[in-house]
Amino acid sequence: MNVPITEVLGCDEHGIGAAAALLKAGRVVAIPTETVYGLAADALNVAAVKRIFLVKGRPQDNPLIVHISDLDMWAPLVAGLPKRALILAEAFWPGPLTIILPKSELVPHVTTAGMDSVAVRMPAHPAAREIIRAAGLPLAAPSANLSGLPSPTTAQHCLKDLNGKIPLILDGGPCDVGIESTVVSLEGKPILLRPGAITDSMLSKALGEPVAIADAVERPLRAGERPTSPGMKYRHYAPKARVILVESDLASFIQLLNDAPEPKTYGLVFEGEQQLALKPCITYGRAHDAASQNRELFASLRQLDDCGAKLVYVRCPDRDGASLGVYNRMLRAAAFEVIKL
Ligand code: TXA
Ligand code: MG
Repeated sequence: MNVPITEVLGCDEHGIGAAAALLKAGRVVAIPTETVYGLAADALNVAAVKRIFLVKGRPQDNPLIVHISDLDMWAPLVAGLPKRALILAEAFWPGPLTIILPKSELVPHVTTAGMDSVAVRMPAHPAAREIIRAAGLPLAAPSANLSGLPSPTTAQHCLKDLNGKIPLILDGGPCDVGIESTVVSLEGKPILLRPGAITDSMLSKALGEPVAIADAVERPLRAGERPTSPGMKYRHYAPKARVILVESDLASFIQLLNDAPEPKTYGLVFEGEQQLALKPCITYGRAHDAASQNRELFASLRQLDDCGAKLVYVRCPDRDGASLGVYNRMLRAAAFEVIKL
């Protein structure tokens, strides 16, 4: 499984050629997308897909997203393409939206973790689509982090987690979006399983009908409850520190932070808010600006680990509309530990 060295190459002809050759040979390669880096392999090759699970330490029951570069790669993967799916693809692809439909026979059950549906997306990052085209394969790709750690938004994050475990990382620069794609299931009535940069209201508007939001987006699963999207049941995105999400005004937050007895307490705050804090702070974007929060969230969580933080108090993002994605990730980073002041 282990490789002597992990090479990091740019997304030029040489890098893309090297990635395509490895992917065709059934190997696993980290590639950039506009959301987060992906740990890619041939989605139709059982051995290659099994390698993804091994490298990441991913639970076997958590299905992968299949990435395509062109619309004509979609039909062979699914049992059929309903009108709703075509409308969403037309409106949002290439881009950070994943669409779940009943799968075809072609897609192996390892890729979908035994489910009879398959999640597909066409990434907006040009290098991601070039790699898929050069390999001539649909690529299964979860986020390129070790399972449970924050998702990687730079090639350096991938290297930190995967050095010596995969032969190649392609560096396409920092990810524009910064949180994983929105996941919508069209197996029945449209339902949003994971919030992201494309919001439920954007989906509803395109479809001309309401899109429900899965309960698990904003709360932990109850004991014995079956998740609609298995990824939602795991503690996710978590740095080593204990993370607590604080719903309060700024003054009460600063007081809580300043009074914390644990010496390695950090604040995770919005830009400009660190002025009054007596404890060290790291920022994640601007208040009420979901795009900047999304972009910085995962890098900031990793930075807290690098600083050796033991306890982190987090300023709560907004909870609706464009902010639901960052709120959902933060809740999981905090393992649902929330204080209201
Ligand atoms: O932005 C993204 O989507 C990134 C980049 C690399 O494209 N990928 C990503 O993959 O976030 P991953 O494996 O970290 O998350 C996949 C999510 C999980 O929550 C999984 O449970 C869900 O999608 N999923 C995949 N296939 C599914 C299916 N057939 N039914 C329900 N949920 C599914
Ligand atoms: Mg992930």
